[in-house]
Order: sequence, then C-alpha cells, then structure tokens
Amino acid sequence: MAFNSILVGIHRAIHDKVDPELEVYRKILKYNDVPYIELDSSDLDFWEKIQTITHFIYKWSHAHGDHQIANAIIPVIQYHYGKKCFPTWETSWHYDDKIKQTYLLHAYGFPICEGYVFYHKSKALEFVKTTKLPLVFKLKNGAGSMNVQIVKTRKEAEKLVNKMFGDGLSQDKTSFLNVLKTLNFDFYKVFRFYGIKFRDNFIQKYRQKFWLRHKNYIYFQKFLPGNDFDTRVTTVGLRVHAFRRFNRKNDFRASGSNKWDIDPSHIDMRMVKIALDISKKFKFQSMAYDFLLDQNNAPKIVEMSYLYGGAGYPDFMNGYWDENLTWHSGRFWPQHFEMIDFLEIPDLKCPPDLDYDTNYKSVSI
Ligand SMILES: Nc1ncnc2c1ncn2[C@@H]1O[C@H](COP(=O)(O)OP(=O)(O)O)[C@@H](O)[C@H]1O
Ligand SMILES: [Mg+2]
Repeated sequence: MAFNSILVGIHRAIHDKVDPELEVYRKILKYNDVPYIELDSSDLDFWEKIQTITHFIYKWSHAHGDHQIANAIIPVIQYHYGKKCFPTWETSWHYDDKIKQTYLLHAYGFPICEGYVFYHKSKALEFVKTTKLPLVFKLKNGAGSMNVQIVKTRKEAEKLVNKMFGDGLSQDKTSFLNVLKTLNFDFYKVFRFYGIKFRDNFIQKYRQKFWLRHKNYIYFQKFLPGNDFDTRVTTVGLRVHAFRRFNRKNDFRASGSNKWDIDPSHIDMRMVKIALDISKKFKFQSMAYDFLLDQNNAPKIVEMSYLYGGAGYPDFMNGYWDENLTWHSGRFWPQHFEMIDFLEIPDLKCPPDLDYDTNYKSVSI
C-alpha cells in the first residue's frame, strides 16, 4: 500500500558520511512504500521543500553543527509551518543539555539528581568553598561519560571554576588518562579519538569542528555513592525498555562501559514507572533516562536524551513493557515504534533486515 497523503522529509546529518541511524528510518519508509525526500537546510530551496512535506525527520546528534541547525529550524518547522516533526521541540529542546533537563524535571517535582548551576564565577567559588564533597562535575553536553568527572578536593573544584570562567573547556579536551579509561582501554578507539583530533587540527583544518568550547557556566551534581551500575530506561510513546550498565573497573561511571545486563527481572520497576510518567507528562516521542539510587535507595535521574538506540545498543532487543507494565517478549526496534507513532500507521511493517553495524549480539547477557 502506498501512502500518498504522506511525504516525509529527512534532514541530513551534519557530517559527510552516510548516517547508519538515518538509514534505519529510510529502510522502514522504503519497506512500507512511504514516500520521502532528502533535505538539507543549507540548500537554498530548503524552505520551499518544507512546504511540500507533511512530516519532518531530523535525528540530530550531539555534534555542535547539528545542535545549531536543530535549534534554529525545528521550532519554526513545527510551530510556524505546522509540520509533524520527529523529534518534536517538546521532545528535543533539552537534548544534550543537562542543565535544561535539570530545570525542566525539577519544575515538576520529578526525581532529577540535585544539580548546582552557576553563571557567576564568584558564586561558584563561594559554593565550592563550603559544599560537601565529592561532587560530580559535568559539561552540559556530552556522552559516554567522557565529560563527567568526580571532584574530591576543593582545590580541584576551584581549578574547574577558574577554567570554566576562563578559557573554558572543549568537550574533546580531556586528560589522556580520562580518554583511556572512558574508552575502556580500547586502543582502536583511543587511536581514533586522537586521529580525529590530528586530522581536524593539522590535515583538514577547514572541517567543521565537532565540539564546542564550554565556558561562562559551571554545572555540578550531587555525587550519588555506591552505585555499581546505572539503569537506562528508554521509552517510545508509552512502551518502555530498560537495561543495566555496569561501571568501568575502578570507576564510578557506567555510561559507555558497554557492560550490560538486559534481564528485565533485574530492573527496579519504580524507575520504569517514573520514566513512563515523565514521558507521558511531556508527550515525549522517545526518551532515555539514566537512573541511579540515592542514599535513601530512591531512584534519581542523572540525565535524559531523546536520542538513543544507536548501533550496538540493546534497547528493545528482548522486549518491552506496555503502559500497564505488561512485558512483551521479542526483538523490537525503537525506530520502528517511533515511525508507527509518528506516521500514525499502526500496522507499519518492520523490515526484516534492520540489523546494522551492531555488536549487541556479541554482548554477554
Ligand atoms: N551524580 C552522580 N553521582 C554518581 N554517579 C554519577 C552521577 N552522574 C553520573 N554518574 C555516572 O556517570 C555516568 C555518566 O554520567 P551521565 O550524566 O549519564 O553522562 P553521559 O552523558 O556522558 O552519559 C553515569 O552513567 C553514571 O554511572
Ligand atoms: Mg548518560
């Protein structure tokens, strides 16, 4: 069946490569004969083309270039051209910004880990002089734990304040030891990390830099001790999946460790319920929540992200809970559910060959 009343526009990703994440959506649309066109907001006829579509997809990532585009175009396309967007602005305005997430969840009393945000150096210095340590310092953007560190002494905290209110910190400027640890001592990944830096600084200097320099703010979170893992709860509409991610060896950080347990019977169902409540409240199309436990054994969210389920991640791979917390076993794809909801086609088919460059099969579960 062809869906003639639908025309989807897919905005390209900022980088020059074929984006495996977007390929999944293309595959689903093709398989179901849903027509789509490719879009790029740097094309002069972009806004003309926007008028012709019914649905707009921009799966934007944490690269600075994507942030810049998405922030400028999604609200206009959604609110002023009246197009259906994936993600919507409601789903994504706080994406990859832990400060916005803290403000938003706090406003409604959802259990976000206590955060301390300062835009004045003097107030930040005053805070670190007296506050209880350790603290967790985070850049507001970042993934895979790369920009998350524990601060154990006042001297370290002061140094960070001086840095953030001085030259600032680039997301990819981090110590060699942190790179080694965060990339799990995987020498291929470490080599790639420095290779990309070398390329951008010396070989292709004209390339758009992936990361932004952060300055003139500082963000700390209360340290939640004693967590050997975090629990990643992901939602698409009101379907929920969850898995646990264990910390790296001798490290308090789990994100990016790639040590997973996806057994649903090990999941703290309070977290599943909280994730459902939040996604329902804000009508999030898709959302991932990272949960830890505080000292009173209460679930606390340390960050959320509409973007998840990329190559190699186990989201929805063994089943999901529905709104009534009934578990449905099977191999599901969050992207397929996203498109069912977005296009409002309940029987949208899932292509059999969605598996792409993923290593989840090799993960011991
Ligand atoms: N406030 C905190 N207290 C203790 N551990 C934390 C805290 N915040 C984050 N972590 C740990 O650090 C990891 C990375 O933090 P997160 O905020 O999720 O950043 P990222 O965006 O890099 O995933 C988490 O998976 C968790 O294990
Ligand atoms: Mg995280």
